[in-house]
Amino acid sequence: MVSEPQREGGGGATGEEPSRVLVAGCGYVGTALGELLAGQGHEVWGLRRSRMEASPFIRSIEADLAVASSLESLPGNLDFVFYTAAAGGFEEGRYKSVYVDGLSNLLEALERGGHRPRRVFFTSSTSIYAQSDGGWVDEDSPTEPGAFSGRRMLEAERLLLAGPFPATAVRLAGIYGPHRRRLIDTVRSGRAVYRDDPPHYTNRIHRDDCAGVLHHLMGLPDPDPIVLAVDSEPASQRTVMEWLATALGAPAPRAAEATDDPPRRGGSNKRCSNARLLASGYALRYPTFRDGYTPLIQALT
Ligand SMILES: NC(=O)c1ccc[n+]([C@@H]2O[C@H](COP(=O)([O-])OP(=O)(O)OC[C@H]3O[C@@H](n4cnc5c(N)ncnc54)[C@H](OP(=O)(O)O)[C@@H]3O)[C@@H](O)[C@H]2O)c1
Repeated sequence: MVSEPQREGGGGATGEEPSRVLVAGCGYVGTALGELLAGQGHEVWGLRRSRMEASPFIRSIEADLAVASSLESLPGNLDFVFYTAAAGGFEEGRYKSVYVDGLSNLLEALERGGHRPRRVFFTSSTSIYAQSDGGWVDEDSPTEPGAFSGRRMLEAERLLLAGPFPATAVRLAGIYGPHRRRLIDTVRSGRAVYRDDPPHYTNRIHRDDCAGVLHHLMGLPDPDPIVLAVDSEPASQRTVMEWLATALGAPAPRAAEATDDPPRRGGSNKRCSNARLLASGYALRYPTFRDGYTPLIQALT
């Protein structure tokens, strides 16, 4: 079911050629992207199972990517497609359904519908890297995920890149931003625990840079098939938690002990490089966790 937005895309607000864009799985990142694109004059449809109430600028499509038959009436002549659906739970069945089956269904529906998108973007994850020595990884590093989450994501990337359309997999690190304050809340409550023997690196990207990167890549004539989208400062858990605790006036976080639960997602430990992204001309709005968390903390007071 497609519903109309309150405002039509005017076209060419920044001199860009207006495009017809589908955001499939239009949630936290997808909505930020859709609003950014609508603001630039593009015509944007946001697809998800529940009705989109949040944005007046994105046309809402209620459909289930996991059910092929619900993708039969996509808007015509799409220029760009962004696949930003998320599993919504840490279970293999959900990962397969959303990342593998859903993507496959959408690519088939686009082909069946005679679409010729200039590019399909898929938001992948840095979880496809299993490296655990704290070293640097980039787009050319081995991807040998041990956990089902990384394996299913990699399966989806391969499906995308072997598919019928020009495509780019954008490997996002941990997303934070407005209303995504889990780490802030944990530190503020005094429950923060870090692994530090050896230092455990974390990688992240602000929601607005997720949207910004996707918009930037859409404007490139021939973006790379794989792009890592992370900020410029992988930082140890301890560094981030201690900085947050100081900024929040919260109790100091503590080091993990043998009795603490092991990490749930396979325990990889790596520093993700954004050199390729920056070389492509993208300027991060929030280059470090300090830049991104400072306004979020200020908004708390
Ligand atoms: N969160 C992170 O830290 C992180 C890190 C790396 C990569 N990523 C990736 O980044 C992307 C964006 O993440 P996000 O945080 O924006 O996710 P999100 O807020 O959970 O949004 C995902 C959207 O997908 C929709 N969706 C889920 N299953 C669907 C289905 N079967 N059919 C149609 N729509 C469906 C959901 O809406 P309904 O439930 O209404 O359908 C929701 O609006 C995802 O691909 C995620 O895997 C996230």
